[in-house]
Amino acid sequence: MPAYFGLDIGSTSVKLIHTDGKRVKFVAIGRNQFGKSISAMSNAEKIALTDSLKVLINEAGLREKKVVASIPESSVFSRVLKFPVMSSPELATAIRWELDQSVPFPPNEVETSWVVLEKPDRFEGNEKISVYVVAVPSRISESYVQILDLIGLEPVRLENEIPALSRVFAEGLSDTNPALIVDLGAAGTNLVITGKTKLFGNFYIPVGGSAMTKMIADAFGLALDQAENYKRTYGLAKDQLDGKIVTLLKPIIDNVIGEIRKLIIAFKDEHSGSVVNKLILTGGGAYLIGLAPYLSEAVGVEVVVGDPFADMLIEAKYKALGPVFAIACGLAM
Ligand SMILES: Nc1ncnc2c1ncn2[C@@H]1O[C@H](COP(=O)(O)OP(=O)(O)OP(=O)(O)O)[C@@H](O)[C@H]1O
Ligand SMILES: [Mg+2]
Repeated sequence: MPAYFGLDIGSTSVKLIHTDGKRVKFVAIGRNQFGKSISAMSNAEKIALTDSLKVLINEAGLREKKVVASIPESSVFSRVLKFPVMSSPELATAIRWELDQSVPFPPNEVETSWVVLEKPDRFEGNEKISVYVVAVPSRISESYVQILDLIGLEPVRLENEIPALSRVFAEGLSDTNPALIVDLGAAGTNLVITGKTKLFGNFYIPVGGSAMTKMIADAFGLALDQAENYKRTYGLAKDQLDGKIVTLLKPIIDNVIGEIRKLIIAFKDEHSGSVVNKLILTGGGAYLIGLAPYLSEAVGVEVVVGDPFADMLIEAKYKALGPVFAIACGLAM
């Protein structure tokens, strides 16, 4: 059993899990009562969140203090970048230059890390080095450390969501036929093309399940909790309510499909002979009725719901929540 647990503070739900990959020792899910990420919270909200996290941890019976926690993609710069073949010092300079263009903070207020994903063995002209670069404003990572500290936890590592998502499903994948993970959360949607050992591309769309609920609420004149029920009950079923809900949600889903297609095309252009042959749905939005067949038809690949709990021993009441715990499980690994 690793000496740390995984903690995913989502904009609507908080997930924590301590597992050895086979057996789940502690698990809990609670509400984020503020419906937003930590970076958007006031100090008073952060303190209140801290209190509810303490309760959640206590109720789970978790004594472990060491934690690996996630910072949402909306708060970081996280991208697979391509560079012409160059030396390591040149690469470092090129990455810094790229970040200067893309990250709206002075370099001394940003923490950066990168890993080389692909480097050609031979250089024949137009080969590229592929690097996964992550940059987070220090102000944001510090606020996470501060909150964990207030709860009495010790952060072993803070990580953005993409590595956790690609880690949790890596075992069943291959680098020649990677999968595209679609993590449909409340505030946003993460896309990541990943194989067994390699990450090939990612994208964050700042629209998710909350926007869907809001559209239903506005269109039908409903309160948000009622609209949420409509969404969960009817989903994308065409034969319900004259297909009104599917018509409403279509632009949001089609936008996600557009970004999925772009990522797949970029992958194909750079990896002839390999294909993305599977979509893995995670996040609470994975339960949206009719989403899997809709995506499968639009993208033309098999769509499965990603369930990290499939082969794990876990309390029955959590068994069906695997897709929601994908990031937390990736962190716990
Ligand atoms: N049965 C369901 N049908 C449709 N949508 C659902 C269902 N269950 C949950 N959801 C949606 O899933 C979303 C919450 O998922 P999740 O817990 O993964 O989000 P989060 O981690 O809090 O958000 P984010 O990662 O964007 O900050 C909500 O928008 C919720 O409406
Ligand atoms: Mg989430």
